[in-house]
Amino acid sequence: MSTIKTSTNTKFENFIETKENEDLFEKTKRLNNILKSNVLTGNEALGMISLSKLSSMVKIKEKDGFCHDVIMLGTNSYLNIANHPRVITTAKKALEKYGLGMGAVSNYAGICDLHKTLEAKIANFYNCEDSIVFPSGYGTNIGVITALCNKNDIIINDSANHASIMDGCRLSGAQIKIYPHNNMKYLERILDNIPDNISGRLIITDGVFSMDGDIAHLDKICSLAQKYKCRVMVDDAHGIGIVGKTGRGSAQYHNVQEKIDLNVAMLSKAPGGIGGFCATKREIIQYLRLYARTYFFSTALNAPTVGGLIEVFNLLEMDMAGRQELLLKTKYLKEKLLHAGFNIGNSQSAIIPVMIYDEEKLFKLYKELRYEGIYVNVVTYPAVRRKECRLRLCVMKDLAYCELDRAAQIIIKKGIEYGIIKKSP
Ligand SMILES: Cc1ncc(COP(=O)(O)O)c(C=O)c1O
Repeated sequence: MSTIKTSTNTKFENFIETKENEDLFEKTKRLNNILKSNVLTGNEALGMISLSKLSSMVKIKEKDGFCHDVIMLGTNSYLNIANHPRVITTAKKALEKYGLGMGAVSNYAGICDLHKTLEAKIANFYNCEDSIVFPSGYGTNIGVITALCNKNDIIINDSANHASIMDGCRLSGAQIKIYPHNNMKYLERILDNIPDNISGRLIITDGVFSMDGDIAHLDKICSLAQKYKCRVMVDDAHGIGIVGKTGRGSAQYHNVQEKIDLNVAMLSKAPGGIGGFCATKREIIQYLRLYARTYFFSTALNAPTVGGLIEVFNLLEMDMAGRQELLLKTKYLKEKLLHAGFNIGNSQSAIIPVMIYDEEKLFKLYKELRYEGIYVNVVTYPAVRRKECRLRLCVMKDLAYCELDRAAQIIIKKGIEYGIIKKSP
């Protein structure tokens, strides 16, 4: 086991506030000193520098200059569609025709015919009247929520919703209620207690939860929404292209596609690009184009990305992006980890949480895995509660079965070493 020290006074929260008599920037110095010391905080190892394009094996450069190959279990580009030859070809064509950047926000000179084609394709994918594409996924949630909700409204959130949803809710000024993750009884209790005079009501949930990989109970949420006269917004960042009978996402998985009022998802995960969108009724999209500030005041996506994404949706539409292969490989890895005795939650997607429950062990384990050539994500506060800290594995379609075997073998070996699982008799 590693001998590197950990410490309890190095927590994320300790560096948020300016302390009494401190200069505004003093907290940045305090953090720098901790990160430079040999104390593991979990933050110093965050991120990596890639030296090769995304594939099952990626060459990376560590902060100390050490370069090595890792098996990639840390990307949200589950289908590696960003490197699909057809996607590269269309992105290149768009680059040659329109250049690198658009140079303006969408409502001024920022869009070309490709943006309109992409929005039509997305609308068609969700069987909606129209869609709006934002230049960032984070900004999509902020823009949609703050445009539609204000102090007269109430928003009801799952506690595991993504930070961008929570931030959008706070910025909107609406009253915010939170129910424990996927707890439908608690949700109903909240809905039942909403005063009659609050008529602007929105339930927001991730479709696939980004840190757990499970799917929201959209069937139940939609029937409660109908009973209590609420609108429903789903952020299906990790469901699009992956779950549902033909990869249309969590609403398709629960067969409630026509009951979702606001279909939000990101173009940055399985679609392999960047940005986000909302698909819904034409008049709502028209409203968002004027009132969503992260759309109105932010430069439009560049043409190569949009061109590439059009081809991505051609592949997703026909369900030809390798979703089935991804699901088989995910099942394969999950079974190995489960059989070894890890708690991997209730994942129904390509995200596999491997619960560690102990930050000190997590940070050491994570670092050792990485130096053994397995790249996974380390997750603790503020992404999840500290006592629910975990490794987060994302399966990618391009991983070979022998790479999955090797990753599982090393994770199991380390899990036994750290006492997270027992050695099988
Ligand atoms: C559920 C969810 N929503 C929104 C976002 C933000 O998307 P982006 O990274 O494209 O800004 C993420 C990204 O991690 C996410 O997981």
